[in-house]
Amino acid sequence: MKKISIAIDGHSSCGKSTLAKQMAKGLNYTYVDTGAMYRAIALFCMQNDIIIIDGQVDLNKLENSLNNINVEFKLNSSGNRETMLNGVSVESEIRDPKVSNCVSLIGQEKIVRVKLVDLQKKMASQKAVVMDGRDIGTVVIPDAELKIFLTADVDVRTNRRYLELQEAGHQISKEEVRDNLVSRDEIDSTRVESPLKQADDAIVIDNSNITREEQLAKAMELARQQIDS
Ligand code: DC
Repeated sequence: MKKISIAIDGHSSCGKSTLAKQMAKGLNYTYVDTGAMYRAIALFCMQNDIIIIDGQVDLNKLENSLNNINVEFKLNSSGNRETMLNGVSVESEIRDPKVSNCVSLIGQEKIVRVKLVDLQKKMASQKAVVMDGRDIGTVVIPDAELKIFLTADVDVRTNRRYLELQEAGHQISKEEVRDNLVSRDEIDSTRVESPLKQADDAIVIDNSNITREEQLAKAMELARQQIDS
């Protein structure tokens, strides 16, 4: 059967990784969460005083450290992929709101993007991959057979994210969650280096008013059309 590459881009917290994971499982493809890679570098920067208190990045220090940052994915004993930073699993740490608050700062630095895009292109080179992020259809896999641009109303996204964080035990208000989403979308969409934007040939799915099951059915139908073509 023909193997394809699937790129899923879109705004923060609109369910890209949920959809990408479900599709990868259904097709027996590899799932790559590129946001986790940016989050792992942001965490390294937080741990090593590369992000300075007032939200500035120490670029010299970042440049000198980049070769010492190794980000990869490993399967754990339950068969789930975990994000590894220099050999240590950081899968849950990188989801902390403190990391969410500064990850877009790190994602706008060209040296970080060059390193990660290169790694992501290698991961995608074998096809049979579902990759989610912000620049996958435009920069990382511009020749992906299927490109989906996922979006949802900001209040719907805020409510979903707020519930997720509550369930994970984080003390955070709805306003803080909303502010973080709005500010990340703003930084991600307006940065100079490969900003978040819909690829010309992407298919938009707005999931504000559809269930996860309906979304998955629609996306799988699009994938099957490409695989069978
Ligand atoms: O998908 P996520 O929310 O885990 O991504 C975290 C941040 O990483 C997001 O705010 C922007 C950045 N990012 C990016 O710039 N490019 C990608 N391909 C993926 C994520």
